[in-house]
Amino acid sequence: MQDFEAIRAEFPILDQSIHGHPLVYLDSAATAQKPQTVIDAESRFYSTINAGVHRGAHELAARSTMAFEKARAQVAALVGAHGAEGEEEIVVTPGATAGLNMLATAFGNASLGRGGKAARRFALKPGDEIVVSKAEHHSVLLPMQELAYRTGATLKWFDLTPDGRIRSDTADEVITERTKVVAVTHVGNTTGAITDIAPIVARAHEVGAVFILDACQSVPHIPVDFHALDVDFAAWSAHKMYGPTGVGFLYGRRYLLEALPPANFGGSMVELAWMDRPAEYMAPPARFEAGTQPVAQVVAAGVAARWMMDIGMDRVEAHERAITHELLTLGNVPGVRILGPASEDRRIGTIAFEVEDVHPHDVGQFIDAQGIAIRVGHHCAQPVHRHFGVFASNRASTGVYNNVADARALVEAVGKVRDFFEV
Ligand SMILES: Cc1ncc(COP(=O)(O)O)c(C=O)c1O
Repeated sequence: MQDFEAIRAEFPILDQSIHGHPLVYLDSAATAQKPQTVIDAESRFYSTINAGVHRGAHELAARSTMAFEKARAQVAALVGAHGAEGEEEIVVTPGATAGLNMLATAFGNASLGRGGKAARRFALKPGDEIVVSKAEHHSVLLPMQELAYRTGATLKWFDLTPDGRIRSDTADEVITERTKVVAVTHVGNTTGAITDIAPIVARAHEVGAVFILDACQSVPHIPVDFHALDVDFAAWSAHKMYGPTGVGFLYGRRYLLEALPPANFGGSMVELAWMDRPAEYMAPPARFEAGTQPVAQVVAAGVAARWMMDIGMDRVEAHERAITHELLTLGNVPGVRILGPASEDRRIGTIAFEVEDVHPHDVGQFIDAQGIAIRVGHHCAQPVHRHFGVFASNRASTGVYNNVADARALVEAVGKVRDFFEV
């Protein structure tokens, strides 16, 4: 079993200096770095079996199709989405944002009557409710808001505890008999808080609503099993789980994917097309994968999923928890406030903080000068920042390659910020 120092050595990008300091990368919530095996998988695909999938009658097309479908199975295995009879529950998307928009568009199409009787469970009308939370990334909030505007449904939301957790204890009040869709994040991209989704899922199902999980920040950091969590749909991006950019995945229960009308139209998703009547669409997942897919990236994402499973997600979680413990000592630095839970319980190592009287961009620049990469801004989550009474923050976030020394380097650097800016 590889130790985490050996795992760190698999990331070529980390072996460099920035501004004369060894690079400390603490921005994995934005995008994770890639191990050599993932980088090699993408380039090997192009140099050996590159071809369009699912169509060609030639050997390379057969090989690339096999590699593409193997990757789908590897990703399914990572998130507990292997159907009992091998049925496909993973749809390839261009990323989490695209997957969430795809769902919102498909629900909108169902609301126009597309997809027939089977799709009625997704249809929304004035008076119906869509429930999100104040902790959502804009990639959940805005597609759901837009769906509400388009259908006349009402957008409602879960409030947060003072330390930024979604108030799952209020599920019975927030979700009502009128609720048709509930979409919440598994892990806050600002707070790092792991949502207690069980009461929300249970209540959503009690009233017959569809439950959508934003799994962007959970899949890379903690063991995730969508069947065990009982969610209906989940979206996430490969680039945050050590895979390539430009690709993501949408999990959907098989019977729901079968009932859902498509959102994107074009090649490779249709059985029969005519000039004078509507097309007949393919079964999922193909129905949702219109056009040429990012095959090399999907294959490399499959390798990333396999690589994570080989390390073991329990080990990943425990490793990052120790670093999170160290990072949370930021809260002891005078003038620093953590925007999220203060202990490592039920949270990951994504830690937003403010340094009193110093603009987040100044903090970020000062930290960058020490070779440490963190995020500044609102992290595409303005409502949660408003909850904390700030417009922007700094955010450190861990990955498998970080160690306790990285956390100490950040805490030490943040400790110098206020002196440097003379506040
Ligand atoms: C919680 C969460 N949801 C959604 C997204 C959107 O992911 P992407 O930009 O890869 O589509 C992100 C990434 O920033 C995220 O952290």
